[in-house]
Amino acid sequence: MKVFVNKRIPEIGIHMLKDAGWEVFIPEHENLSHDEWLSYCKSHDAILSVGAEFKYDKDFFTECPNIKAIALYSVGFDHVDIQEANHRNIPVGNTPDVLSKATSDVAFLLMQSVARRASYNFEKVKSGNWGDFDPLHALGQELYGKTLGIFGLGRIGFEMAKKSRKAFDMNIIYHNRNKNEEAENELGATYVSFEELIAQSDVLSVHANFRPEQKELFNTSVFEKMKENAIFINTARGGFHNQKDLYNALAEKKIWGAGLDVTNPEPIFKEDPILELSNVCVLPHIGSATIEARSGMAKLAAENLIAFSKGEKMPACANP
Ligand code: DGY
Repeated sequence: MKVFVNKRIPEIGIHMLKDAGWEVFIPEHENLSHDEWLSYCKSHDAILSVGAEFKYDKDFFTECPNIKAIALYSVGFDHVDIQEANHRNIPVGNTPDVLSKATSDVAFLLMQSVARRASYNFEKVKSGNWGDFDPLHALGQELYGKTLGIFGLGRIGFEMAKKSRKAFDMNIIYHNRNKNEEAENELGATYVSFEELIAQSDVLSVHANFRPEQKELFNTSVFEKMKENAIFINTARGGFHNQKDLYNALAEKKIWGAGLDVTNPEPIFKEDPILELSNVCVLPHIGSATIEARSGMAKLAAENLIAFSKGEKMPACANP
């Protein structure tokens, strides 16, 4: 079996694949054009797919009939037409769990950075404007006992809720497709409607898997219903929020601030006016960027392909 790995990943995954008898191809340069990527896919049995710039849609599956399995190097699979993959009996592996702690750490980091106005204060320091001690200036807000609303309480949302509960004794509310009993029992989390979630959250953190029907769900009509002190955090997918509407809500101080590890579009343009605001902290999609999480992702992606080559079910499979 031959696998095309479109970008270098931690060596452990490559070793595992080679030890299991896979022939592994990694191109010398990583910024492949769409045509180069497609031609490599055509000549391999499987792809270990890093990044979301190339889409696995109907056209892809038609053009690459040799592809028998896809191992995503991500938990998200919104760039794959799963229905089409199912239809063709192509398993699509993903990498849940191993990145939940790291990604929720970034949500937690953004929540605190925005609450304590880290971007604003860092800019002041960089511009040589440290300033005198001022009892009324640069005041942040404390998170103790406040309400954290989780949109999408899966593994990452659970980790974010757990940290926030432990560190700040936050009251956890959530909105999800299904009730999460573990979160209710362990964290005292309360299931609420979407309307209640947006109206009651002091911090609203998005952790759901992105589905096309949720495109720009967080827009002016939502931001207008949020509290004035609310902090909007998105570490899931940029497509969840309308960035212009978010800019307006932040510029007009309809909400307190926003912390984004994902943007819309992504990457963000450096001219995007949202970057000029002092109540925003933007990171370049680094949720899973720890040595531990990225190695775990490499191992799990390899395990998925190895299971496939043995005729077994992938241990982490996005297909229903
Ligand atoms: C994921 O794993 O889905 C991360 O967002 C990286 O794409």
